[in-house]
Amino acid sequence: MTTEAILVKLEEIKGIGLHGLEAIETLEYLEEWRVAYLGRRSQLAQLLRGLSSLSFEERRLVGARANETKALLEQSLLKREEILKEADAALLSTKEEMDITLPGRPVPLGRLHPTTQMVREICNAFVSMGFQVVEGPEVEWDHYNFEMLNIPKDHPARDMWNSLWIDYADEDGERTMLLRTHTSPMQARIMEGMRPPVRVVVPGKCYRYEATDATHEWHFFQIEGLAVDEGITFADLKGTLYEFARRIFGPQRRVRFRCDYFPFVEPGVDMAIDCFACQGRGFLSSGAEEGCRLCRGSGWIEIMGAGMVHPKVLEGVGYDPTIYTGFAFGLGPERIAMLKYGIDDIRLFYSNDLRFLSQF
Ligand code: DAH
Repeated sequence: MTTEAILVKLEEIKGIGLHGLEAIETLEYLEEWRVAYLGRRSQLAQLLRGLSSLSFEERRLVGARANETKALLEQSLLKREEILKEADAALLSTKEEMDITLPGRPVPLGRLHPTTQMVREICNAFVSMGFQVVEGPEVEWDHYNFEMLNIPKDHPARDMWNSLWIDYADEDGERTMLLRTHTSPMQARIMEGMRPPVRVVVPGKCYRYEATDATHEWHFFQIEGLAVDEGITFADLKGTLYEFARRIFGPQRRVRFRCDYFPFVEPGVDMAIDCFACQGRGFLSSGAEEGCRLCRGSGWIEIMGAGMVHPKVLEGVGYDPTIYTGFAFGLGPERIAMLKYGIDDIRLFYSNDLRFLSQF
């Protein structure tokens, strides 16, 4: 090849190479371009190898041109590469890449709080026996929380309920408002508002000024029950609560009533069911006779307070106690849930721990 022809060839390689480079849109093709124009077997490399047949003078001239061409092609390659990489990055950040073959992310499902579930289950048991569900205020008057329930001011029975008082006083400087300590005030509110027959259950939150431990919370749910009519007797109380216990804890349950004191009922009782962990025996028959922990060896588990509505409570709401009688009861749904599901700390209900909550 003559010097002339080589120089023309170099110009041609430069022209075509640069032109081709402009058209390249992907890094993959860019690499193909590099191999074709700057690789060891490219035309340029072959030309450079052929220079040895030229004279010294010619070699100097052609070699310098060939090196210029090579340098230009290399620089252009780097520039193009930079442009393409930037474009790639911009594309990635705007275009949503979706691989539909990837497994989906599990979506955690919401569910009802265990207390809510228990409240509903208990209320449903009573609804199917003809009771209505009613709700009432959590901020309550002393009048309903205590007075109307036969618990006058300064009466020692008030010590049964450590109260959280609202910072509010009447003209005489008396505190008259509190967070209800139980759902029993709804007994008076309901009877004031209707004539017998009354058959209601009242689920709701209650508050007490109390230190918490495994069996005590300062806020918790109660479900109050009230049935008033002509001729209601203690047998009705027993029959109703017996039926309830069997529905919640199983058909084999036996129940026990013992005398207890609540100012708004007479007689008052506490109701227990036979322990379903040890079948009322008080011990577990696993080899050695180990005492049952659920009922602490007694064979019985207390589940609620109840009684015949006190005549003073009936009189207070304008019912004639010589005509009307009734029974009332109050139970703690968290406590029932603890027994039923073997939960050993009541504080779990309100600590928002998903490891606990998602078990229900
Ligand atoms: N209110 C009572 C308490 O919080 C529970 C209770 C006991 C309610 C006897 C009643 C009842 O209606 O008859 O301790």
